[in-house]
Amino acid sequence: MKNILLTGGAGYIGSHVANLLLDEGLNVSIIDNLITGNKKLIPSNASFYNCDIDDVNCVQKIIKKNKFDIVMHFAGLIRVDESVKDPKKYHLYNYQKAKKFLNTCFENNLKKIIFSSTASVYGNPEKQNVSEEDRINPLNPYAETKLKLENYLIRESKRQNVKYIILRYFNVAGADKKLRSGLISKFSTHLIKIASEVAVGKKNKLIINGDNYDTKDGTPVRDYIHVSDLADIHIVSARYLFKKNKSNIFNCGYGKGFSVKEVIKTYNQILDKKIKYEIGERRPGDSKLVVANPNKFKKTMKWKPKFNNLKYILKTAYSWEKKIK
Ligand SMILES: NC(=O)c1ccc[n+]([C@@H]2O[C@H](COP(=O)([O-])OP(=O)(O)OC[C@H]3O[C@@H](n4cnc5c(N)ncnc54)[C@H](O)[C@@H]3O)[C@@H](O)[C@H]2O)c1
Repeated sequence: MKNILLTGGAGYIGSHVANLLLDEGLNVSIIDNLITGNKKLIPSNASFYNCDIDDVNCVQKIIKKNKFDIVMHFAGLIRVDESVKDPKKYHLYNYQKAKKFLNTCFENNLKKIIFSSTASVYGNPEKQNVSEEDRINPLNPYAETKLKLENYLIRESKRQNVKYIILRYFNVAGADKKLRSGLISKFSTHLIKIASEVAVGKKNKLIINGDNYDTKDGTPVRDYIHVSDLADIHIVSARYLFKKNKSNIFNCGYGKGFSVKEVIKTYNQILDKKIKYEIGERRPGDSKLVVANPNKFKKTMKWKPKFNNLKYILKTAYSWEKKIK
């Protein structure tokens, strides 16, 4: 494994993975149309192509010019609220364009793929810790489009020699310890991002979207994974694809859930002030509790997380927010 094609490398997670791959001495080429991404996040030693993933001519030229060993597909739209308002846009970006991109890869003999999927494909899990084989039940168009692409990949792998790793991320948070990348969007709906914006004074307060869920304190519970552990999971997955040549699906989380109020309380402990919040309405399409059973990845890869600590996640998110203030 030497040459990696990475879509969405101007985004939060893609740029982080790109940095890690480059740290390992690998070559990284990034395709991003900057629709939600930011040029500042693109590592200077990666090749960058400003192009849409559905631009067959452009993508084909890039693939022909470089001999890629594997593709990591991060590009997509990620806002659940926006997907509820405009499901067609999500169908276009996360499914139709992505499918066209994958077909261009497959036709050009690039048949190893790591795909960024989401825990929201599980909807409202019936179990405390949801496993890969548990019931799939997407509750919003964002999750539906991610699931459609998962299923497309699975179908194609049966039809032709495509090998995939589908990674279902739980809630990704935190920033690179060297502060090379982090969450930059001003329109993020992620709790830890908004709490960080409040912490550095960019926003006055945080709105908790519903405190009447059937959870320990009424606020939704999520499994927060540090973006550096998630980035490492991609590298480990890529090596697995080369070694085993086997497709697989993995949850990416720590297996421990924190409620919104617990996250705020922990944030207050590392700051010298309190995060101001108000209770608002529930958001359509939100689940009450989504926590991973992460054992499949850990056992298959003999892998352990390094940053499994909410305070560390919050500290890096805070340092990043201060940096981009
Ligand atoms: N952030 C999370 O907590 C989370 C959780 C689960 C899954 N995911 C998945 O991880 C991936 C990356 O998420 P992120 O948080 O880094 O999002 P992001 O918005 O920061 O990054 C997405 C990148 O994709 C690019 N992009 C979008 N459509 C494109 C297109 N048609 N052509 C070229 N580039 C395009 C954007 O410009 C952006 O740079 C997404 O696929 C998302 O669904 C993220």
